Amino acid sequence: MSHPSAPGDPVSRPSSPGGPAVRGTVLQVSPLLPALERALAEQYRAVRLHELPDPAAYLREEAGDVVAAVTSARFGVGNSLMDALPRLGAVVHFGVGYETTDVARARARGIDVSNTPDVLTDCVADLAVGALIDVMRELSAADRYVRAGRWGAAPYPLTSRVSGKRVGILGLGRIGRAVARRLEGFDADIAYCSRAPVPGVAHRYLPTARELAAECDALVVTVAGGAGTRGLVSAEVLEALGPRGHLVNVARGSVVDEPALVAAVREGRIAGAALDVFADEPDVPRELTESDRVVLLPHIASGTHETRQAMADLALDNLRRFLAEGVLLTPVP
Ligand code: 8YV
Repeated sequence: MSHPSAPGDPVSRPSSPGGPAVRGTVLQVSPLLPALERALAEQYRAVRLHELPDPAAYLREEAGDVVAAVTSARFGVGNSLMDALPRLGAVVHFGVGYETTDVARARARGIDVSNTPDVLTDCVADLAVGALIDVMRELSAADRYVRAGRWGAAPYPLTSRVSGKRVGILGLGRIGRAVARRLEGFDADIAYCSRAPVPGVAHRYLPTARELAAECDALVVTVAGGAGTRGLVSAEVLEALGPRGHLVNVARGSVVDEPALVAAVREGRIAGAALDVFADEPDVPRELTESDRVVLLPHIASGTHETRQAMADLALDNLRRFLAEGVLLTPVP
């Protein structure tokens, strides 16, 4: 990793893309992968806002020096922080999701925003398929059954077959398509719902989440988070999925109406759910933690050494490109 400037060297924003190097401070807004935190500290005048004893004092005195912010998909850069940074030119997300930053507002101020697409697609899709198999074949529940010493008393009940089932993919973006590719190997009958039919995709398209849910045995949620998809998996959609249907969510907790999901699980109006994301992480409703019908994961879909390092490298590449040329490598759409 070349050093565009020695740590502590001032860095500022060029007047135009491809312009001179950027001079100012890089603000780390939230905890990040330790390797990424180290690289920021080694290569740039990086300040960890979340570790400062008095962030407000820092912003009062030094805000004018900050030209780039690095943050996680979970925290983003809020509007009040954005407003406090007059020379901010780039928000670099460690993650593919960026719903925690108001991109339109940032761009209106000439601030560009990047994320880390593609490098995590495989691991997120792997986990989605793994979670689907877990909840339909009840792997985690059967593991608990053995650990509780119950096997001696009776064999574990029969479960649901995965291969050959009808699977609906809600959101056929990069991750949704990667899930579909994997499920083709399971002879799954795949259908999907997206804002519009995706050109060149042979899978059946359904215009609404409810219609998709009504036509599948398992619904896999891979849409982006944010206002546009909040509560997309509603009580009505869960009703359409039905008492033999399974839900998998590797997108965002906000996409699913969580109280409706809790009620559907409790009342057996869906067969089960595998969840890697929740409405208010890391808090998970007690009714879910006490249910044997659900698989609960702590937002680990991209959580592999390989993928998190690749995400860190791409975030650093975005920051380096911005500081050197004033443009980001993978700006959000
Ligand atoms: C997180 C994610 O980035 O990429 C995303 O949008 O939600 C995850 O990969 C990861 O959990 C680190 O915060």
